[in-house]
Amino acid sequence: MDILQFEKQSLRLPSAIDEIHDELFEQKHVRVYVKRDDLIHPIISGNKWRKLREYIQIAQFNGHKHVISFGGAYSNHLYALAYAGKELGISTTGIIRGDELTAESNIYLTQMKNWGMELIFINRADYQQKRIPEGFKTSDSLIIAEGGFGNAAITGIKEIVHELCDVAFDHIICTVGTGTTYLGLCDSTSKTIVHGILTLNNLTEIESNATLLNIPIQQLYSSYIFGKYANQPEELIQFCEVFSHKHQLKIEPIYTGKMFYGLYDLIQKDTFKPGSRLLALHTGGVKP
Ligand SMILES: Cc1ncc(COP(=O)(O)O)c(C=O)c1O
Repeated sequence: MDILQFEKQSLRLPSAIDEIHDELFEQKHVRVYVKRDDLIHPIISGNKWRKLREYIQIAQFNGHKHVISFGGAYSNHLYALAYAGKELGISTTGIIRGDELTAESNIYLTQMKNWGMELIFINRADYQQKRIPEGFKTSDSLIIAEGGFGNAAITGIKEIVHELCDVAFDHIICTVGTGTTYLGLCDSTSKTIVHGILTLNNLTEIESNATLLNIPIQQLYSSYIFGKYANQPEELIQFCEVFSHKHQLKIEPIYTGKMFYGLYDLIQKDTFKPGSRLLALHTGGVKP
């Protein structure tokens, strides 16, 4: 299937924008909207399609028969790639961090295997070097970096801002993993301030990637990491549960939970002028 047909048949694009209400927002005179990229698709949800789209187009256009990428045992990126590969007729390989793992280690890996992704488990030292074992890389393979990081993904992210058309927001808030989404947003708008909530201790890496790609970065916050990637303290879990219930909007503690937690705190601390319109990007991550 080609990409346009797939988008038309299977994806909800452009994604919706919903306003959410809270006493805090009223008290601080700000309006908060959520760009519902989580509703694009149950599996290729959030920023996943945005980041993969251009790579798949490149693969199809250049006749790559195979796409290889990297991720951890619970990688949303590889999960989405495995499914996209199945739907779009591209064979995929996931290089997974941890040679102690197998396709039966969790239901997501099993599902990815069932969708036809070849899973290669490598030790952490090799993974750090992104070393592809001999024999798996061929001349017609397209290699996508971990989390989709790269210019093609940044181009795909820009579509989010195009979808806003002329609706004006003063601030956009997103969560930051590899920083691809954040850099794509920073590169697409100069009128709107883009706030990135870090989920791991990689500020230096993001700053150097921004320099490398010549993208001016805006506001980045390291105060909502809760120690390290994937830490889920009770306070954060509680916040996610209360938020999900109150707004009927599912979030999870690794990415979007940290973002909304940070957003509430920034509003509380009067970061945004009264009258501001804020757009939070829901990047998905709530697996079915
Ligand atoms: C649900 C979710 N949100 C946000 C991110 C972070 O996005 P990025 O890596 O583009 O910073 C990820 C990781 O890719 C993710 O899985």
